[in-house]
Amino acid sequence: MTVIRSVVRGIGSYLPARTLTNHDLAAMVDTTDEWIQQRTGIKERHIAAEKECTSDLALAAAKKAIAAAGIEPESIDLIIVGTSTPDNTFPATACAVQAGLGITTGAAFDLQAVCSGFVFALTTADNFIRAGQARRVLVIGAETFSRILDWDDRTTCVLFGDGAGAIVLEAAEGEGTTADRGILTCHLRSDGRHKEKLFVDGGPSSTRTVGHLRMEGKEVFRHAVGMITDVIEDAFAATGTSAGDVDWFVPHQANRRIIDGSAKKLGIPLEKTVTTVDRHGNTSAASIPLALSVAVADGRIKEGDLVLLEAMGGGFTWGSVLLRW
Ligand code: ACO
Repeated sequence: MTVIRSVVRGIGSYLPARTLTNHDLAAMVDTTDEWIQQRTGIKERHIAAEKECTSDLALAAAKKAIAAAGIEPESIDLIIVGTSTPDNTFPATACAVQAGLGITTGAAFDLQAVCSGFVFALTTADNFIRAGQARRVLVIGAETFSRILDWDDRTTCVLFGDGAGAIVLEAAEGEGTTADRGILTCHLRSDGRHKEKLFVDGGPSSTRTVGHLRMEGKEVFRHAVGMITDVIEDAFAATGTSAGDVDWFVPHQANRRIIDGSAKKLGIPLEKTVTTVDRHGNTSAASIPLALSVAVADGRIKEGDLVLLEAMGGGFTWGSVLLRW
């Protein structure tokens, strides 16, 4: 049976030039490099320059993804930016990216699912492609979480960083089997009962301010490993695959202990798990495309590999995408 698949044609990423090490943070709040590394695995993160906005990061990543795909920007008919740190309340950061690429056709919008933003955006793009409503989609995860951190709160400010990653997805015909290249299955979940465990204490309609990130760290940690299991089991059940078939596990990069715990629970060896949290911190919606970008650039992820993506974030939201690269 012939089916439409969303195949990755190119990937790109961008990290701001400035790095902030744990030692730098120790000079700002009551913390130590040892505490941060032991609890999170993070050594350093990148921080956007004063005038650098989320759309600037997104545009830089998008240009690299488009160059890697070898296509003309005008051939892109949909841009989706997963972000919780847009340049402005509106218009969408995706519209700024579209203008920056010189595209005047098609559509562009933002999608907000916090750390699950890239998985939600990828799923949305796949649905547009499989419905025949788009052929080439630019999917971006881009964040400047440094702008919503309370830099006096040591329990949160040590965890996050800025960055962006982008991929170009293109419609292609497949045989309808798991040997096809492209996205094989996507599974999304949300449970708003947990909305106060990880949130920003401001917004246009509530406080008329931007607000700061607040988190019950222990509660988020407790749920993170447990929650992702269902969407990964759904991915395996939908495709008749199992953990042993996965070539690369690329989870959201929140915390080394969450990543290791998830991989162990799923039975995926750490050698097949891509980890960048040590260098990037938690870049929310940008973390998965950033990690993918690193693993493609260093030759780990190759065409034909089975790649499992997974994320969990504020809301709570969580989801999985299984694709053949
Ligand atoms: N430096 C030094 N000490 C600190 C720091 C810090 N940066 N932050 C907290 N502490 C202290 C606390 O005040 C506490 O001190 P006390 O015992 O005197 O009260 C002590 O360290 C232990 O604090 P806990 O919160 O119990 O530390 P825990 O082991 O739970 O680790 C952490 C905290 C790293 C936040 C952990 O809960 C975690 O990783 N949670 C997941 C959160 C996460 O990754 N969120 C990202 C967003 S969600 C997502 O992307 C999935």
